[in-house]
Amino acid sequence: MDYSIKNICCIGAGYVGGPSMAVIADKCTNKNINVVDLNKERIDLWNSSNLSNLPIYEPGLKEIIKRRRGKNLFFSTEVKKNIAEADMIFISVNTPTKIKGIGAGEAIDLKWVEASSRQISRYAKGKTIVVEKSTLPVRTAETIKSILNSTITKNKNQSESQEFFILSNPEFLAEGTAINDLENPDRILIGGEDDDAIKALENIYSTWINQDKIIKTDLWSAELSKLIANAFLAQRISSINSISALCEVTGADIKEVANAIGKDTRIGEFFLNSGPGFGGSCFKKDILNLVYICKYYGLYETANYWQNVIEINNWQQKRISNVIINKLFGTVVGKKLSILGFSFKKNTNDTRESPAIKICKNLIEEGAKLNIYDPQVMPKIIERDLNLKESIEFDSSSELGEWKFASSIYESAIDSDALIFLTEWDEFKFINWKKISEKMRDPKWIFDTRSISISKEAQAYGFNIWVIGEGKNLP
Ligand code: NAD
Ligand code: UGA
Repeated sequence: MDYSIKNICCIGAGYVGGPSMAVIADKCTNKNINVVDLNKERIDLWNSSNLSNLPIYEPGLKEIIKRRRGKNLFFSTEVKKNIAEADMIFISVNTPTKIKGIGAGEAIDLKWVEASSRQISRYAKGKTIVVEKSTLPVRTAETIKSILNSTITKNKNQSESQEFFILSNPEFLAEGTAINDLENPDRILIGGEDDDAIKALENIYSTWINQDKIIKTDLWSAELSKLIANAFLAQRISSINSISALCEVTGADIKEVANAIGKDTRIGEFFLNSGPGFGGSCFKKDILNLVYICKYYGLYETANYWQNVIEINNWQQKRISNVIINKLFGTVVGKKLSILGFSFKKNTNDTRESPAIKICKNLIEEGAKLNIYDPQVMPKIIERDLNLKESIEFDSSSELGEWKFASSIYESAIDSDALIFLTEWDEFKFINWKKISEKMRDPKWIFDTRSISISKEAQAYGFNIWVIGEGKNLP
């Protein structure tokens, strides 16, 4: 049968639900999109009249919200009503690693997915297509299906016309480039069992995406492909990061190596930037989940193989704090250090699993006084991530590590011994080296963990420079 989709509901107004629904609303102006969330504060920010207050910073997002909000794109906490009116429901809720119980530290906590499924089963009316947009362990669709179908069985008389069709449609957007990724994706993946339901979702995407980019599979392959895509991407970063350390001790340069190997079309040039380790809400949790699934099926060698991608990432973050401490004469007690960038990558305000968190914690533990500057991350988020209150003024009589927020790069550099670049924000490429060098204490250092092409000019102002993966750092 032909499913005509007029009303779409998305459960979860986060980094995926917000931008992905905004783009669907922008491309399919004949569909009504209602994004619902239990978090009222987040919904209020999505509805804020000042578009600079949106809960998520993504280039290009504001403009779409301005065009579509209140027309065919709505944000609300009215879960019941919007589920009841929807022909298609996307589940875009969080799926973090479990912190307690069976599988703690590895398995995905499915409690938000289960709660969403129960909400759908309670309120949905008629034929409803339920789309898994969240990243889920393979075979989660089975769980969702059994929750949905259990209410149909229970309320058999009232819900004769009720029927659910489940699709897996994982999201591949990356933060910071989300709008472009959604508008021009490499592929759209739809897994399912019902051809007409698949077609209904395909029709939405084909409004702006070429048919040859739409891949259709069974449910389990779609669910698993998402986990594996993230695992392969993270594996490349751990591979290049492991080699950055080898470059530093042999005199080779990681950028030259990445360029040379990337020219081989079988390897490819992307995702070969060495850095302070991968962050973000997904790589680590998705690999941990892969490890858990492999162990569950008794595939211990496969589990160990992927576990090592995470081990290398942890090692890289620790390695960087150690390099900084060693170069600063083996101690950072009482030293002021300027931390430039706190988000896990540029062009996002997201700090989840940001390498900056571990590196800053290590330096604070060693007694450093950190002046942290990030153009998009708010001090209250840094306070939460470091689990340490911001100091109003540093206490020079104390050997305890502390941190303060700086409102500019130059403010962060005052009396500082080192500039530590942890995120590759574009504005860091345009520093006035004369101005910044005058504010710092000698001997002054630059630690560039992102290879932000620090200009030769910096050297002229007497900086000692350490760049990740550069063998010319050899003593
Ligand atoms: P998020 O934490 O930013 O947003 C999830 C939202 O869901 C929260 O606002 C939460 O309040 C809401 N929510 C949870 N349970 C709810 C319920 N029962 N009813 C209504 N609202 C509910 O998470 P995110 O970063 O958007 O990620 C969502 C999913 O997408 C995850 O599975 C993630 O792995 C996947 N993913 C994320 C990205 C990314 O770049 N962040 C990219 C691709 C896929
Ligand atoms: C990643 C994937 O790229 C998306 O396809 C996926 O949808 C998403 O995870 C998800 O499932 O959440 P994201 O984490 O937003 O997207 O950002 P990436 O660009 O992948 O960067 C992740 C981390 O790796 C960042 O800390 C980044 O700085 C680091 N990275 C990336 C490197 O260190 N080197 C690189 O070459 C690329």
